[in-house]
Amino acid sequence: MTDEPFRTIIEPFRIHSVEPMRLTTRADRAAALAAAGYNLFELRAEDVLIDLLTDSGTGAMSAEQWAGIQRGNEAYAGSPSFYRFRAAVTGLFPFRHVLPTHQGRAAEKILFTAAGGPGRVIPNNTHFDTTRANIEFSGAQAVDLPIPEGLEPALRHPFKGNMDVGALERLLAAQADAVPLVMLTITNNSGGGQPVSMANLRAVRQVCDRFGKPLFLDACRFAENAWFIKTREPGYADVAVADIVREMAAFADGMTMSAKKDPLANIGGWLALDDDGLADRCRNLEILTEGFPTYGGLAGRDLEAIAQGLSECTDEDYLSYRVRSVAYLGDAFESAGIPVVVPFGGHAVFIDARAMLAHLDPLQYPGQALACALYAEGGVRSCEIGTVMFGLHPDGTETPAALDLVRLAIPRRTYTQSHMDYVIEVATRVASRGAELPGMRIVSQPRQLRHFTARFAPLQ
Ligand code: F0G
Repeated sequence: MTDEPFRTIIEPFRIHSVEPMRLTTRADRAAALAAAGYNLFELRAEDVLIDLLTDSGTGAMSAEQWAGIQRGNEAYAGSPSFYRFRAAVTGLFPFRHVLPTHQGRAAEKILFTAAGGPGRVIPNNTHFDTTRANIEFSGAQAVDLPIPEGLEPALRHPFKGNMDVGALERLLAAQADAVPLVMLTITNNSGGGQPVSMANLRAVRQVCDRFGKPLFLDACRFAENAWFIKTREPGYADVAVADIVREMAAFADGMTMSAKKDPLANIGGWLALDDDGLADRCRNLEILTEGFPTYGGLAGRDLEAIAQGLSECTDEDYLSYRVRSVAYLGDAFESAGIPVVVPFGGHAVFIDARAMLAHLDPLQYPGQALACALYAEGGVRSCEIGTVMFGLHPDGTETPAALDLVRLAIPRRTYTQSHMDYVIEVATRVASRGAELPGMRIVSQPRQLRHFTARFAPLQ
């Protein structure tokens, strides 16, 4: 790291290969939006200028990762690429069993097929949508226990991703037998990409110990979480990020993981755990749907890209740039009077659409309305995280979600500061006529994970 306190954010890499982007007109975008049923997941990526739909699998790989792709060994069983992958994972997360999967949700599906089921209850700070869906699909109940501060978009707290330890204790005291394991999502994506403190991890672990329950991390953004611990939690300023990660891992008995986030890969994930019996059951399930346990739905070359990415994502120059560049976007929104979740998380800026479009009822989907407007205005694709994503319940009833947010997720190492300046300009223009934006109604929807495929129409 440099010891010169410059104001300019330096991307700690230079561009090595480029991918053209296609400019569109306002009329092109209006037509694309209507054809997509006002669902941004249904757009063609070529019709999007700046794609902030997700930070998942959308990062740019390094020259060393591409070199790893060449090194990939495609043996069906026992590939050296698997052993390199496993060594990289256990170097940070020293669990006894590491099962590669094609992405995070496959690890969730395996874990909850083995450990979930009717009558079971799985608490988390906040479940991500695929985690919740996999738990509910198994017949179990997914319970969110964020700290109250985590639900106040405008309230500043250094670790808004923390779990409410008292609420966990009460849940376990009331129905310990129903809880097979406790989860903690780092960072708490659905709660605004907010970190969990080491103190909270320790406190959750103590409660788990008291009730004899294993703790699993949903660790997709573990490196960003560790960076926030280093920069915000007393006592960690001089601890290396990799050591912070190992300390976090030591509190847990296992993890589900998407390598498409912090590990800087375009595909992949894993399930890791210590329990031999549970690992055996998971391995058998893995063979059923993912493949032999030394490749688990991935090519050997993918395992190499993940192994290399794991060493790059804990680099402190990279993390400093990453977190500062997200805050750059958030600070500019705040200065423009756009209501945002503060402090800014690791991978995204979240706009409080319910506050920004206060003329709309939550069941008129203010987040969806705002996300569509950002696309129509400037070809910026974002993602609703609110009533569309969480409002429909397994029994078919619908209620407003706790928050109606729009997430602008920043792909890793992909966009420059001038791309972000453009996004700021687009959002500022949309904000200036926020009170005129129409709400949305749903035209058709599936019963589960509706945000991916539902079709909408603007209200008149
Ligand atoms: N857990 C968290 C916290 C996530 O953010 C995601 C994915 C998953 C699990 C599932 O991983 O996609 O590899 O199957 N989040 C992406 C997102 C999709 O856009 O936030 P996956």
